[in-house]
Amino acid sequence: MKPRPSLDLAGTAEFLKSGACKSVYVLTGAGASTGAGIPDFRSPGGMYDSLRPELITATEAQRKRMRMDPVNVVMKDMFFQNQFPYLEVRRPFILGTQQQQWKATLTHWFMRFLEEEGLLKRLFTQNIDGLDYQTGISPELVTNVHGSLARVSCEGCGYEMPFDDFCAQVRTNVKDIYRTDPTAPAESSNINCPRCNAPLVKPNTVLFGSSLPSEFFEQLDDLNGADLLIVAGTSLVVSPANSVVMYVAKDCLRLIVNKEPVGQDLGIRYGKDATRDVWAGEVSCDEAFLDLIKMLGWQDKVRKIKHLL
Ligand code: APR
Ligand code: ZN
Repeated sequence: MKPRPSLDLAGTAEFLKSGACKSVYVLTGAGASTGAGIPDFRSPGGMYDSLRPELITATEAQRKRMRMDPVNVVMKDMFFQNQFPYLEVRRPFILGTQQQQWKATLTHWFMRFLEEEGLLKRLFTQNIDGLDYQTGISPELVTNVHGSLARVSCEGCGYEMPFDDFCAQVRTNVKDIYRTDPTAPAESSNINCPRCNAPLVKPNTVLFGSSLPSEFFEQLDDLNGADLLIVAGTSLVVSPANSVVMYVAKDCLRLIVNKEPVGQDLGIRYGKDATRDVWAGEVSCDEAFLDLIKMLGWQDKVRKIKHLL
């Protein structure tokens, strides 16, 4: 039976230092990257909030529903009906990613520090921003559960388009629904595949209704060996990514780093009901991981990363 750490951040740090904790698994979501300036999806001011109905070429009925239902509910329908203007909505994010507009946060670096200490067994990330890779983390330890923006291919013939070529076409062919880019075209035109000419070129991201990478399902069984699961910056509302929290063994400690409690419907318990769940509290991911870094004595690791100081 593993030693029972106290169910708080200090107890988690003790457990991490004790030598009894040998395998750490992590699940991150958009809240890990908000510190870099990338909005999350469901917080007030997040991406779904910014998707005002008039921005999206939707039917009047869909626009009406968007005003009542949470946008992401309507978006799922639109994804399923292949009506969602994905490239228009993600144009600023795609072009910002190409310009390396966003830098890895302390949260991304903390996962790299876990790898340096030989503790990280796998990082499941729901994010497509690729910021994890700026830390030099071993790519084979990362599972991009919802794909990644960095790879672009034709859904018709599989042609892999270089990301920069794709961005050049997004800039010239995709209208800017947020009206921040005066050079953007007034209307969108297709991005056709140079090999088969089909207008099916898109980033290899997993949209609602599409299947996750097969390795995700193979890796779920490894979670049974986790001593600690860290869940950071995710509302845990999207399945099957959220099922990660249920695949760990009953005595595996779960550290939830999220501004608000999440995952109660998945069995995560808070306060006096908690028996193996630790909540870092109403703090940001970066604040929580900075506290952990201090408790672990890993400050020197941070000092080496100039843009964090
Ligand atoms: N620190 C701590 N928590 C944060 C921070 C922060 N700096 N910023 C945001 N959060 C929390 C929010 O309170 C919210 O609970 O992170 C969570 C982010 O939730 P979502 O916006 O739903 O993002 P995510 O869980 O990653 O969404 C999952 O939904 O739309 C799909 O494909 C998309 O991968 C995405 C999936
Ligand atoms: Zn093609």
